[in-house]
Amino acid sequence: MKLFDVYPLNDIEITKALGSNVWDEKGNQYLDLYGGHAVISIGHTHPHYVKRLTDQLSKVGFYSNSVKIPLQVQLAEKLGKLSGKVDYQLFLCSSGAEANENALKLASFYNNRKKIIAFKGAFHGRTSLAVAATDNPKIVAPVNETDNVIFLPHNDEATLEQAFKDHGNEISSVIIEGIQGVGGIKVATESFLQKIRSLCDQYDAVFIADSVQCGYGRSGKFYSHDYAGVDADIYTMAKGMGNGFPIGGISIAPKFKPWHGMLGTTFGGNHLACAAALAVLEVMEKDNLMQNVEEVGNYLITELKKFQQIKEVRGRGLMIGIELPEELAHVKKNLLFKHRIFTGEAKPNVIRLLPALNLTKTHADQFLEAFSLELQGKFEKSLS
Ligand SMILES: Cc1ncc(COP(=O)(O)O)c(C=O)c1O
Repeated sequence: MKLFDVYPLNDIEITKALGSNVWDEKGNQYLDLYGGHAVISIGHTHPHYVKRLTDQLSKVGFYSNSVKIPLQVQLAEKLGKLSGKVDYQLFLCSSGAEANENALKLASFYNNRKKIIAFKGAFHGRTSLAVAATDNPKIVAPVNETDNVIFLPHNDEATLEQAFKDHGNEISSVIIEGIQGVGGIKVATESFLQKIRSLCDQYDAVFIADSVQCGYGRSGKFYSHDYAGVDADIYTMAKGMGNGFPIGGISIAPKFKPWHGMLGTTFGGNHLACAAALAVLEVMEKDNLMQNVEEVGNYLITELKKFQQIKEVRGRGLMIGIELPEELAHVKKNLLFKHRIFTGEAKPNVIRLLPALNLTKTHADQFLEAFSLELQGKFEKSLS
């Protein structure tokens, strides 16, 4: 049997990982500023994480949601506390798309409406509704096509207001990333998020904050939407939540009342997943990672803005987009194959930095030095 070939792969096999470093099968060391797509939050193979997962695995790894799982309650309490949403309710699932799918569904159950407002450049996942609310027709199969999603320009308050005037009583939810990730690190303005809040209040629509990539401390606040000083009705999360163990969740405002069978999943909230998520929150709290994100993130953004050749530096905390002109499109590849630094990308020429939240200033300097050499075209040697 062959693999279904849907992923363009780099010719690298990772055999060891620790903190912000990974090693290939030949023993070469890399700096990881990508975290397997924003997933590694507390660093690879963090000792507390490894211990908590190993201990849990030797007790009970999995049982379904047909029995009490106290770890879920502990996770909900800790997440509520660290995210500042103590009165919210937690539903656990296993991925970002699944989190958004459930959030959109819950909104529709709540107000009995069908229309969803999403934005140009948005990415919300690949399941049925999540992909329909994603601005990429290439990945929307005919069976996922729906008239229920209205795409509006990002950060355009006047158009949003008009859409509510035209369809207000049909709109079930508005879904927005606090910082668009796949879309190229585009920050939703504070006033736009505030406008969404007030229109949702006015029309009884549900404000869904997709925090799958930009959440969980990555921006320097727990949810990047928090910068706007307003609460969303539902926060969706995944990626950094389990530091690599598949877990997703939605944090749900008190006004939503559950009933048995309303939502459900086999794997969501299993023992191992909860142990992973608890280990992440424990490390985030103990090591004050959100403060580190702010400090190292601000440092990186300030330093990057000094490079004249860059078109634009965008983002917050350790979610940074570096937009390069066409003639520097090769830099991302060179960072990996000449300097052994993993970064992410977005179309057309955006380098995305999504490192672990405990990235050090020394790591940041290592990247800045390599990046500077690349921009000056001074680094010729190929390591591959
Ligand atoms: C903002 C956002 N939402 C949802 C998803 C989907 O998450 P998953 O790949 O875990 O289904 C992603 C994945 O990149 C994302 O960036």
